[in-house]
Amino acid sequence: MSCPPKSDDLVFFVNGRKVIERNADPEVTLLNFLRKNWTLLIKYACGRGGCGACTVMVSKHDPVSAKIRHFSITACLVPICSLYGAAVTTVEGIGSVNTRLHPVQERIARSHGTQCGFCTPGMVMSMYTLLRNHLQPSEEQLMEALGGNLCRCTGYRPILASGRTFCVESTGCQKKRTGKCCLDLGGNDSSSLNRESDICTDLFVEEEFQPLDPTQELIFPPELLRMAKNPEKQTLTFHGERVTWISPGTLKDLLKLKAKHPEAPLILGNTSLGPAMKSQGRVHPILLSPARISELSMVFKTSDGLTIGAGCSLAQVKDILAEQVSELPEEKTQTYRALLKHLKSLAGQQIRNMASLGGHVISRHCYSDLNPILVVGNATLNMISEEGTRQIPLNDHFLAGLASADLKPEEILESVYIPHSQKWEFVSAFRQAQCQQNALADVSAGMRVILEEATDTIKELSLSYGGVGEATIGAHKSCQQLIGRPWNEQMLEEACRLLLEEVSLPGWAPGGRVEFKRTLVVSFFFKFYLEVLQELKKLDSHHYPEISDRFLSALEDFPVTGPRGVQRYQSVDSHQSLQDPVGRPIMHLSGLKHATGEAIFCDDIPMVDRELFMVLVTSTKAHAKIISIDLSEALELPGVVDVIKAEDIPGTNGAEDDKLLAVDEVLCVGQIICAVVAETDVQAKRAIEKIKITYKDLEPIIFTINDAIKHNSFLCPEKKLEQGNIEEAFEKVDQIVEEVHVGGQEHFYMETQRVIVIPKAEDKELDIYVSTQDPAHVQKTVSSTLNIPINRITCHVKRVGGGFGGKVGRPAVFGAIAAVGAIKTGRPIRLVLDREDDMLITGGRHPLFGKYKVGFMNNGRIKALDIECFINGGCTLDDSEQVTEFLILKLENAYKIRNLRFRGRACMTNLPSNTAFRGFGFPQGTLITESCITAVAAKCGLLPEEIREKNMYKTVDKTIYKQAFSPETLIRCWNECLDKSSFHSRRMQVEEFNKKNYWKKKGIAIIPMKFSVGFAATSYHQAAALVHIYTDGSVLVTHGGNELGQGIHTKMLQVASRELKLPMSYMHVCETSTATVPNTIATAASIGSDVNGKAVQNACQILLKRLEPIIKKNPGGTWEDWIEAAFEQRISLSATGYFRGYKAYMDWEKGEGDPFPYYVYGAACSEVEIDCLTGAHKKIRTDIIMDACCSLNPAIDIGQVEGSFIQGMGLYTTEELKYSPEGVLYSRGPDEYKIPTITDVPEEFNGLGESGMFLGSSVFFAITDAVAAACKERDIVEDFIVKSPATPEQVRMACADRFTEMVRNYCLLS
Ligand SMILES: Cc1cc2nc3c(=O)[nH]c(=O)nc-3n(C[C@H](O)[C@H](O)[C@H](O)COP(=O)(O)OP(=O)(O)OC[C@H]3O[C@@H](n4cnc5c(N)ncnc54)[C@H](O)[C@@H]3O)c2cc1C
Ligand code: FES
Ligand code: FES
Repeated sequence: MSCPPKSDDLVFFVNGRKVIERNADPEVTLLNFLRKNWTLLIKYACGRGGCGACTVMVSKHDPVSAKIRHFSITACLVPICSLYGAAVTTVEGIGSVNTRLHPVQERIARSHGTQCGFCTPGMVMSMYTLLRNHLQPSEEQLMEALGGNLCRCTGYRPILASGRTFCVESTGCQKKRTGKCCLDLGGNDSSSLNRESDICTDLFVEEEFQPLDPTQELIFPPELLRMAKNPEKQTLTFHGERVTWISPGTLKDLLKLKAKHPEAPLILGNTSLGPAMKSQGRVHPILLSPARISELSMVFKTSDGLTIGAGCSLAQVKDILAEQVSELPEEKTQTYRALLKHLKSLAGQQIRNMASLGGHVISRHCYSDLNPILVVGNATLNMISEEGTRQIPLNDHFLAGLASADLKPEEILESVYIPHSQKWEFVSAFRQAQCQQNALADVSAGMRVILEEATDTIKELSLSYGGVGEATIGAHKSCQQLIGRPWNEQMLEEACRLLLEEVSLPGWAPGGRVEFKRTLVVSFFFKFYLEVLQELKKLDSHHYPEISDRFLSALEDFPVTGPRGVQRYQSVDSHQSLQDPVGRPIMHLSGLKHATGEAIFCDDIPMVDRELFMVLVTSTKAHAKIISIDLSEALELPGVVDVIKAEDIPGTNGAEDDKLLAVDEVLCVGQIICAVVAETDVQAKRAIEKIKITYKDLEPIIFTINDAIKHNSFLCPEKKLEQGNIEEAFEKVDQIVEEVHVGGQEHFYMETQRVIVIPKAEDKELDIYVSTQDPAHVQKTVSSTLNIPINRITCHVKRVGGGFGGKVGRPAVFGAIAAVGAIKTGRPIRLVLDREDDMLITGGRHPLFGKYKVGFMNNGRIKALDIECFINGGCTLDDSEQVTEFLILKLENAYKIRNLRFRGRACMTNLPSNTAFRGFGFPQGTLITESCITAVAAKCGLLPEEIREKNMYKTVDKTIYKQAFSPETLIRCWNECLDKSSFHSRRMQVEEFNKKNYWKKKGIAIIPMKFSVGFAATSYHQAAALVHIYTDGSVLVTHGGNELGQGIHTKMLQVASRELKLPMSYMHVCETSTATVPNTIATAASIGSDVNGKAVQNACQILLKRLEPIIKKNPGGTWEDWIEAAFEQRISLSATGYFRGYKAYMDWEKGEGDPFPYYVYGAACSEVEIDCLTGAHKKIRTDIIMDACCSLNPAIDIGQVEGSFIQGMGLYTTEELKYSPEGVLYSRGPDEYKIPTITDVPEEFNGLGESGMFLGSSVFFAITDAVAAACKERDIVEDFIVKSPATPEQVRMACADRFTEMVRNYCLLS
């Protein structure tokens, strides 16, 4: 093999230390470089710039302003070669638990802003970068800085609370941040607070935080400053194996290089090139980097416009435009304002910092937010090449890539000229995405009109749309035909008709949703029409017509505001010893380590000697016979060691109907067929592209529940519960029959599935480090796969970066396949799933289709309810039978209905197998019950809350499966929620608002919850713990629970501390290991802390009992004295604790049992506002009341409440899985699959106690309440078909109006 030519030295700094890379590979990203070469623990979670987990700060000298710029970036998209002359700061560079913590790190941990901690380093670095630029930021800046960072655990509120402590308006009183102190929370609230002297609202003490001292920060390296001031003009070249990076020092050299390599792309932010190269596997042999060319960052302001260098980042563009807007009169800045509006919501801060204006324009993404505005704003592109300069208009011809309007291959874009607007010219921008921030738009638009001076006659009109075709589309014909028309209703009507004909491609648009997109095309124009009218009114209030007050709300966008709220919890008894930590808001044990990046997750374990990397090969067919697998080319590639196939499995290949590795037949796209092992991850990934598998399609192919029902394709028998006489009851009542659809949900734990298997030299022993909720299951599966006894296998779980049920069953599959690889090769194996593979392979929450028939009286009393539901289980059984059982057992929720019938079945389809997910069927099933209540209310002309209250359990009673319980706490939670949320007065305010506003509607809903805890099987109700006391008095606690972020280790030490009467500082939990506590049950079903806490308590009590005689003898002695004496007296200082829990049983034949140890109760009230024209919604306020009984740790429990609420809110409002017609999952990353971001948290978020996902449905029902108000006003008689998630599309299309009507008519005619 020939040696690559010699590269230049790549010089940059990491955490104050100089890096000289002699052989920098352009394909290596900063993320991989830092993890592999520097063993820094920066986190990988998506690899596409969409989650912010890998955020670091980059500092560079800006040649134009001659200042140092600090900006956050996502390291997964940054090639190291782009860092020449830059200083990189990672979370490890700003503080450490061993030396000094940075205030950002300390505050996020002490404010309980970390749960699993996987997102925390990224959060810390986003906040840190903000503080490097603004010592006392505003809240708006804080929200903006964190907008690109996802967290799946916390619900964001505590993270923001920590950031707020740095903000200008920060105050010590958390309640003051609601805008009202505890004493002015409203009549009810203030009096109840005074009465409730045992209620606390403080979760941390701000006064104890160390101050932010900017003098302590790392300085920009003087060497880099010198380099920047005397820039190297010479071209730098970095040769990699496949790609050469050329970074010229002058514009002249760049143009020369571009002429020589016309096919080579320019690489700036790499936010467009990078993801495309990754997803399409495309390699550009030469990349030209203009990073050192200051001409591309120039900004020129002239009397008629603004010229912005193509190399300016979008964040810089935003600042430049904001400056222009503040300097120039409003009439001149119409286009700049429109661009600014979209620059606030385009991606997250990190992407805006990296992405360049030139890259954005040239990428010509069909979803672009800026190009439609630049087109209507008449922007011009300044091109430059060795031949000279020329200008081309930024128009749709250019954006469509027409050769006549395009840049030439040897040209580059130097700058973009955006002219000022003028008087009587109006420019607006619109966009609608799945959620408000950090989501690609479904439709974006730029609109501009010039009116004849002092008239309403159209002189010039341009309308440009993104998201409706393969490129940004202009509506030239429509605009042309409207010239000369007055700006009035008739013009509006005509414009909509013309637009529908011209803009919407018949039957097709990127991402589908054709009818919705068409509706947005005209709805946006209507908004523009009103906006212009309003501006005209401002210019001449007499001449132009009034806009009715009821219509004005169409104009307001929902502002991005940080959540406010109060978290109240029961304080400990005043007599409780100060040393006893139970019931106190103790910080998560790993909180500080999460914040410094020193918390070790599975893939952070350093490479072990001779380690190999494994990558899985999956099926591309939904149902097919495997004809052949050709591995020959893959095996010849450098570094490839082996390919693991089903034949290599020494023991059992999974279950007959659920194989670990496919044999002969595949049942879904994403099914694992074999696995490549290679020396590096890059080699393994390249090899899988060379494996050729031929298939023969098989029939039937089933994807949907409806198809499964048609084909009678089920995974297990029907589950049924019945009480009363349903048929007889239906004869005497009014009835409604409806259908409900609930979509599935991806776990989206931030840490993807990971495992390291290390074979030992002796006795076939294996050490397995795995991210799992159930290490014993991994151990057992590996044992049967390898055919070796369980006692040879030890599974270790230090911590898990989020599980939510997704790491109960699946990790065993990955552990077993990796173990086969380890045994076959005799070498350690590391398997880390990419986000795309994780989402493709692992399945998620079961989608549900339910039908209900409800019989009721006119007063709202429900007499009979018959629910039949089907869940989509995917291609194998997995947990689908248990999910069906749980679903049926929990369907009744909080209601006593005498005549009931619940039936459920799990459908078998050709999709990846769905599995356990927080709530285990409850969040899907109960949505049917609550939808049914809402429907009854609508039919009876009553409010849903009245129907809920009327039908709720009132006295001690029995459930449908005849388990006795008392609803007292349920009723208390309900009443308290009504009271604390001031529900009834707000219901009236909502109605008032709705009367006054036609285009915006508010909705409010309150939902009760009765949630059964635990598994419906006795063997699951047990736990063990092992507690050692060492001779220095320190205590090691181990137990069967796994730390998933839910703070179980913290709670266990709180228990041990109380029992041993010893401070927590004496204690430690090292890991969960199958070698210390065997035969554990999965940490799931909300009982982990209960059962393991009892086991820890038991072990501590045993030890204390043994110590009692010694303590009695020397009561004044210290703990250390007693331990020393115990050792001398040969008293065992180690004890196993055991908890033999609840005896659960369920007899499905009889339909009765005692399946659950207890219930938790709660209620949540949410209020939202919807935009009827776009389908967007704003969450105004949520109040959650949960009975947590005696919380072991209120800070942790409140965190769990908020986190699961937000996750539930995601399920019901934004998280939508999309498949191709061939059953390929499209939504395989954060860009396609939208989990809630920081801007999705309700503006006011008040909580108490511990909760479940299901309460997130209060947002869903508030949305349906608002939709119902819109429908009522519009006299729409059809019921709103309940479909979760209530996406903007669902909401917009349900709020039918003249525009949806136009679209329907258009569709009928075309
Ligand atoms: C997570 C994420 C979220 C996003 N969200 C949004 C969003 O909400 N809305 C939206 O509109 N966009 C969004 N984007 C897209 C983003 O705006 C573009 O990727 C970005 O603007 C491209 O700029 P870049 O500097 O990274 O381009 P690069 O990837 O570096 O380059 C892209 C292309 O432009 C060419 N090029 C670059 N500069 C020049 C030049 N001066 N002359 C000639 N050719 C040039 C290159 O040759 C290359 O082909 C998102 C992207 C990501 C990764
Ligand atoms: S891992 Fe880099 S943004 Fe997600
Ligand atoms: S703490 Fe944020 S993802 Fe777990």
